[in-house]
Amino acid sequence: MSAPTELLNVQIDGVWHQFPKGTRVIEACRRVGKFIPHYCYHPKLSSPGNCRMCLIEMGMPKPGPDRKPELGADGRPVISWIPRPQISCAQDIAEGMAIRTDSPLAKECRNGVMEFLLINHPLDCPICDQAGECHLQEYSVEFGTASSRFLEEKVKKPKHVELGPRVTLDDERCILCSRCIRFMKEIAHDDVLGFVSRGSYTYLTAYPNKRLDSNYSLNTVDICPVGALTSTDFRFKMRVWFLKETNSICTSCATGCNTLIGTRQNVVYRQTPRENNDVNSSWMCDYGRLNFHYLNSPERLQKPQIREKEALVNSNWKSALARAGEELRKFVNGRIALIASARMTNEELWLTKRLIASLGIVDHDVVPRRGEADQILLSADRNPNTLGAQLFGITNENPGAKLSEITEKVRSGSIRAIIALGEDLTDIELTTDDLKKLSLIVATGILPSETTRHATVLLPGSAFAEKRGSMINSKGRLQRLNRAVQAPGEARDDWEILRDLIQQLTGTNGIYLIEDVFRQIADAIPEMKGLSLSKISDKGVSLAEEAEETTKATASI
Ligand code: SF4
Ligand code: SF4
Ligand code: FES
Repeated sequence: MSAPTELLNVQIDGVWHQFPKGTRVIEACRRVGKFIPHYCYHPKLSSPGNCRMCLIEMGMPKPGPDRKPELGADGRPVISWIPRPQISCAQDIAEGMAIRTDSPLAKECRNGVMEFLLINHPLDCPICDQAGECHLQEYSVEFGTASSRFLEEKVKKPKHVELGPRVTLDDERCILCSRCIRFMKEIAHDDVLGFVSRGSYTYLTAYPNKRLDSNYSLNTVDICPVGALTSTDFRFKMRVWFLKETNSICTSCATGCNTLIGTRQNVVYRQTPRENNDVNSSWMCDYGRLNFHYLNSPERLQKPQIREKEALVNSNWKSALARAGEELRKFVNGRIALIASARMTNEELWLTKRLIASLGIVDHDVVPRRGEADQILLSADRNPNTLGAQLFGITNENPGAKLSEITEKVRSGSIRAIIALGEDLTDIELTTDDLKKLSLIVATGILPSETTRHATVLLPGSAFAEKRGSMINSKGRLQRLNRAVQAPGEARDDWEILRDLIQQLTGTNGIYLIEDVFRQIADAIPEMKGLSLSKISDKGVSLAEEAEETTKATASI
């Protein structure tokens, strides 16, 4: 067992508190509700202490003649105040330390720093894309003055600089906090940014022959406290105060970074990282962040379709599901295969398992997606829920291992029908000619593909931001997807499509809500015992820790 952390006594605005040794002064204040404005400080980066916005008054116990702290009438140390203000972001608390966060001196310091910062700042607020989430604006209202004493010409600096493929820089707005520089050096391990020139002429730039093209570049936009760095993809698309934010997770790899999906009027405008120290800290990669534009594609599949003679024609859910059930019943005894997706939620995979059982399917697998891992966040497994697919037996420890056998069986004619759930069969090396030879393809999907074009029954499903459900990331953390927008047209939640398909084949199945599906999972899968969708917190739960808790609880009965 590790030794208990030493607690230190600290006085904040006249009240004594205790904090663990090693706590930053700014963090100690935050924990007791005393917010200290700051620009350069970021809890996940080093603290250079260069913006001076976090100045406070600080004191230490006054030593008596015996060098021990002199005690006052209340038995607490008498404080000897340091005459000059101190920054609170770069030093840790000490025993007996005293802090004044709202004294006249502290307020005057903030006011002065704001005046300095705004001297050369352009009057861009009305046209700046950071408006609504700009600390300079906010602190200016709270800690600044309404008028300026600066009569001279403002310094002109580079504007609209393409710092990299995804980040635009407006140097005049930069307050030289160096957060972006430190992020690139300390977290992204790609030291490409730095300051050049001196004094008021200092500006941010990329080193000669370098670009801000890291796969983590957009995190600099998140942490830039002003509108100097903006996302080239998002800028000028939507004012942030119009955005509705939904907690969710990224589904572009097995890490499952926690996200906020920003939407307005059923359109997804951006994804930003949501802090989860068990998954992604405060960051996410650009690839995952920008991988949502297909949601707004005009090509989205919106209506169920069935094949009449040679052509796919629009249908309705009742007829399409009935046709799928009727056709599927003709293919039993190993003549049908099922290709699922490790992009599906646990709830969908669970129902897939039941569909497999109801049709006696033996040939089933998922389509693996592999890329390079980067030792930061991006996983080599580009599917978000491979562990879920393994847990429910849709695939084994080697995802995709069965696919070549399935391809062979299709070519030899022993498999005559395929259920393709959210995957394009040409991705498993089946050709268009192979698809034409099949007697039946029941496909779900969100965008057209060779498979949907050759489907007998096409059932349009929902994308990650359009549905609820859960997934298990590569570290065994169960996390929740939440619906941020509605699926287009008549497209449905995939779990509902699967439920209805099972219903066509086996009769009623007692599932009305996605919660009912999760309840079935929790009853059947030991790793999920005792859980419900609502018990998965916004930061997910570790299945290993959950299993340990369940074991302890059972042992104590
Ligand atoms: S661009 Fe933004 S994050 Fe970078 S130094 Fe300037 S103000 Fe700070
Ligand atoms: S690391 Fe993976 S989960 Fe995280 S944002 Fe990138 S693609 Fe998404
Ligand atoms: S936040 Fe402390 S000096 Fe910048």
